[in-house]
Amino acid sequence: MSLSGKVALITGAAQGLGKAFSEVLLKRGANVCVADIKVQTGEATVSSFQQQYSRDRAFFFKCDVTRENDIKATFDAVKKQYGQLDMVVNNAGIADEGAWNKMIDINLKGVVMGSQYAVEALRRDKGGNGGLIINVSSAAGLSPVYVTPVYAASKFGVVGYTRSWAANPHLGSMGLSFCCMCPTFAETDIMKGIDDGSKSLYADDAQELVKMLGIMSVKEVVDAFEQLLDLPDKNGVVVTVTKRDGIHIKRPDMKNKL
Ligand SMILES: NC(=O)c1ccc[n+]([C@@H]2O[C@H](COP(=O)([O-])OP(=O)(O)OC[C@H]3O[C@@H](n4cnc5c(N)ncnc54)[C@H](O)[C@@H]3O)[C@@H](O)[C@H]2O)c1
Repeated sequence: MSLSGKVALITGAAQGLGKAFSEVLLKRGANVCVADIKVQTGEATVSSFQQQYSRDRAFFFKCDVTRENDIKATFDAVKKQYGQLDMVVNNAGIADEGAWNKMIDINLKGVVMGSQYAVEALRRDKGGNGGLIINVSSAAGLSPVYVTPVYAASKFGVVGYTRSWAANPHLGSMGLSFCCMCPTFAETDIMKGIDDGSKSLYADDAQELVKMLGIMSVKEVVDAFEQLLDLPDKNGVVVTVTKRDGIHIKRPDMKNKL
């Protein structure tokens, strides 16, 4: 899938998976808005992108996905900078059972809010280009995880929300596709506190789980993201990627939708 001349907005893109997804999109020709709460890291990321590509291909915008004003300002900034939007990756997330309220605000409500603004900006029947919304969930959005029950709840929510949109029969006339990514553990900062158990409920069990599942490189998740981009029909797709079983593109049965 060439993205030449397309525009993407990625939340939580200052570092980790969001940064790596942004690089893929840049490589494929898209211009990107790196939106994140971390200003210094985000600006450094964008500066490295600008050196590698060109100044006008990427910009940083400070955005706390829990604040509607920030989300609105980010979408406005993209429109101002590039005059269009084609793809939104709602990726920002944290893992900390001790901050469960905040975690639901970021991981679930942030994705909902980002998706709502994305729908309004992209929908073809209201003057947008149509486009793709990728929500970053987790393997913890598909299977129960007793060491991180709130994280799992937030990620199950993302899968349910995304699949519900994908099941919307009006999506075609809007020109929209919704899909989600569900990786197991990957080597980013979010692992700090999960691998030592300090941000989980049962430290020893959390460490056992990490040992059992292994930790993927960021590249292994990026490869799954690229496979998703290359699918001709992405709507409703749930991409899983694990250390043990690799990448699986799933199209959950929509017959059971209500
Ligand atoms: N790394 C993994 O093991 C793993 C596995 C499955 C799913 N995920 C998901 O992938 C996504 C990216 O995580 P990561 O692994 O790159 O971790 P990370 O900690 O490296 O990156 C998360 C990014 O989100 C940003 N962020 C946090 N709160 C924010 C807020 N309120 N507003 C805007 N940005 C905010 C952070 O500043 C950071 O740049 C998350 O949704 C995470 O749940 C990660």
